[in-house]
Amino acid sequence: MTAVPRLAVLGSGKGSNFVAIQEAILAGSLHAQIALVVSDWPDATILARATAFGLPIATLPPSPFRTKLSPEGETALVELLRAHEIEWVILAGYMRVVKEPLLSAFPNRIVNIHPSLLPAFKGLKAWEQALAAGVRETGCTVHFVNRDIDAGEIIAQRSVPVLDGDTPETLHARIQVAEHELYPAALARVLQPGT
Ligand code: GRF
Repeated sequence: MTAVPRLAVLGSGKGSNFVAIQEAILAGSLHAQIALVVSDWPDATILARATAFGLPIATLPPSPFRTKLSPEGETALVELLRAHEIEWVILAGYMRVVKEPLLSAFPNRIVNIHPSLLPAFKGLKAWEQALAAGVRETGCTVHFVNRDIDAGEIIAQRSVPVLDGDTPETLHARIQVAEHELYPAALARVLQPGT
């Protein structure tokens, strides 16, 4: 058995994907450890859920921008991740665009999950975009993160039907069920290639 990869999970919201990943680790289906959970919002539910699992948490200092960190903030984040000897950065509902120097600090080691079948419906509220477009199928995508938003190399996808009468809430809930299966399975493939 190789060394256990050290993950940081970054999230801004409720953290249901974080929980799915941690539960896969505890169940033994994902060989990894979450060494740090980071949020840009001190009251984000993901931090309370991490604490409930007994995992270390950190909150990023306030940023002057809503959708990205300042360059100083991104540098401080890299230092935080290095201090915890993080090897992989796992984005799970992290609502900031990842910039330098974080991208260069973890080349091909930042992973995200997006609630659509990329390249369709990049950006915010992809489930609402899918409803507005009238498609009969959408889904979720696990992908590497690069400087282009929601455009890094695709690791895995799972499709989900759009049903008559779907609201944004029902569709997003169905996508999230798929996410919770897909994300840990995709991470297992990325972290242990060949297994
Ligand atoms: C997920 O739908 C994910 O695809 C998107 O943000 C949402 C995060 O949900 N990037 P959660 O915080 O993991 O519950």
